Amino acid sequence: MISIALIWAIVVGFCCLLWLAVGIRHRQPGEPAIENGFIPYLGCALQFGANPLQFLRSRQKKYGHIFTCKIAGQYIHFLCDPFSYHSVIRQGRHLDWRKFHFATSVKAFGHDSFDPRHGHTTENLHQTFLKTLQGEALPSLIETMMGHLQDVMLRSDTLSPSKDHWEVDGIFAFCYKVMFESGYLTLFGKELGEDKCQARQAAQKALVLNALENFKEFDKIFPALVAGLPIHVFKSAYSARENLAKTMHAENLSKRENVSDLISMRMILNDSLSTFNDVSKARTHVALLWASQANTLPATFWSLFYMIRSPDAMKAARKEVQKVLENSGLTVDPSDPTLNLTREQLDHTPVLDSIIKEAMRLSSASMNVRVAKEDFLLHLDNQEAYHIRKDDVIALYPPMLHYDPEIYEDPYEYKFDRFLDEKGQEKTTFYRSTRRLRYFYMPFGSGVTKCPGRFFAVYEIKQFLTLVLSYFDMELLDPAIKVPPLDQSRAGLGILQPTYDVDFRYKLKSNN
Ligand code: HEM
Repeated sequence: MISIALIWAIVVGFCCLLWLAVGIRHRQPGEPAIENGFIPYLGCALQFGANPLQFLRSRQKKYGHIFTCKIAGQYIHFLCDPFSYHSVIRQGRHLDWRKFHFATSVKAFGHDSFDPRHGHTTENLHQTFLKTLQGEALPSLIETMMGHLQDVMLRSDTLSPSKDHWEVDGIFAFCYKVMFESGYLTLFGKELGEDKCQARQAAQKALVLNALENFKEFDKIFPALVAGLPIHVFKSAYSARENLAKTMHAENLSKRENVSDLISMRMILNDSLSTFNDVSKARTHVALLWASQANTLPATFWSLFYMIRSPDAMKAARKEVQKVLENSGLTVDPSDPTLNLTREQLDHTPVLDSIIKEAMRLSSASMNVRVAKEDFLLHLDNQEAYHIRKDDVIALYPPMLHYDPEIYEDPYEYKFDRFLDEKGQEKTTFYRSTRRLRYFYMPFGSGVTKCPGRFFAVYEIKQFLTLVLSYFDMELLDPAIKVPPLDQSRAGLGILQPTYDVDFRYKLKSNN
């Protein structure tokens, strides 16, 4: 017995020594300060995950503008000085943005790699996104979305609001069903075309509801997939993802009408430039469904929640919407819900813009990530320079900006007009220690990886707010309700969800 215990003690001791020798990194001269953490492989992952902002602030206090942490086997250099952000955002020569993004998408969605260096496709995905989500692509996306939003709110049985009595719902649940269905139909079109046959309408509705349930199930485990856990560990999430993919096989998509350029271009380029098989092609569409919904849904929730909770915001928004409708010669009629605001009209709504921006400032936690292509020297704004090793990750964590009291006064408070200047127009100048900042608001990422759907996302939320303000009276059930805490399990991935829903009530406006 003693000899077995002794052998075990030697094996464990040897493993510990091995870990100390090769499992932890030692700081070399000229490198940022380093924290390896105490847990092999995970490093500081648990402390970081518990409260990223608090973790990073405490390390910034200890080490300064840049430091390195081992997180889930990866050495990450966190850069905390906003005046040095440009050295990462503009540092194209030494930093690779594709490696991390493409690898993450493969891990989560299970399609073949989009990285042309891996030989499955020659498509320039970035260009495809810019072409199909921005510029000339926007007016038709906006028009289609406006139609679907009104159909879902007033024509279908999703809400069935009335003038005579209040409907009670969770704000998140409300935003989820209205935005998911409208956004899904805008990107993926409708099977039924103009056919108003009841049975086909019901089938169409069932398809969307199924997609919503599958999306929810898959989205729940998304953070675990990004962290590297294999999807097969999560049986129901795996089948949810595959169910979504099945509905997006080419033969199913080709039956649909009014498919957006984003998806139809994806189908053409998958066929012409890639060697993906049918399953892989379908999974690329699931990736786009996720990108288009996962952040938009909670962003819509926070925008509506904060707006309803602030009487001043609500009053200013109502006034602005009324003015836009009047100027456009539009009248609100819930029995014929055909309001149509163009891109130009939606561009003249600075109050709604500010309401949305402020909601996203408080709820976004996307991490901006680049990978070092080679060993190089990273120059900071304060003239310091640090050695970065090949394959290390450099990360920016924008909540450090968004909650900085030197940039935003009372940073934890919602101020609907924070992004308005004295003339009531968009405020674009923000300072830290009297010095003007180039980067002060980053929920959509930065530089070349900045979200290509960001313009459409803001239009969608503005359209949603315009319509609920036009058609509904809305109230919180408890006007003094506290702001629900952010669910930190998705920190690093985008807009955080509330840890619980907040009830409100709505009914059709009686003066319509
Ligand atoms: C409030 C809503 C949204 C937020 C906060 C958001 C945020 C982001 C962020 C942070 C990224 C990663 C950027 C980076 O890594 O630096 C991203 C990527 C992306 N987003 Fe969005 N997004 C939103 C809505 C949308 C919508 C509506 C669409 C499409 C209809 C979309 C399409 C995409 C795509 C395709 C990518 C990947 C781009 C690439 O890898 O080149 N997003 N988004």
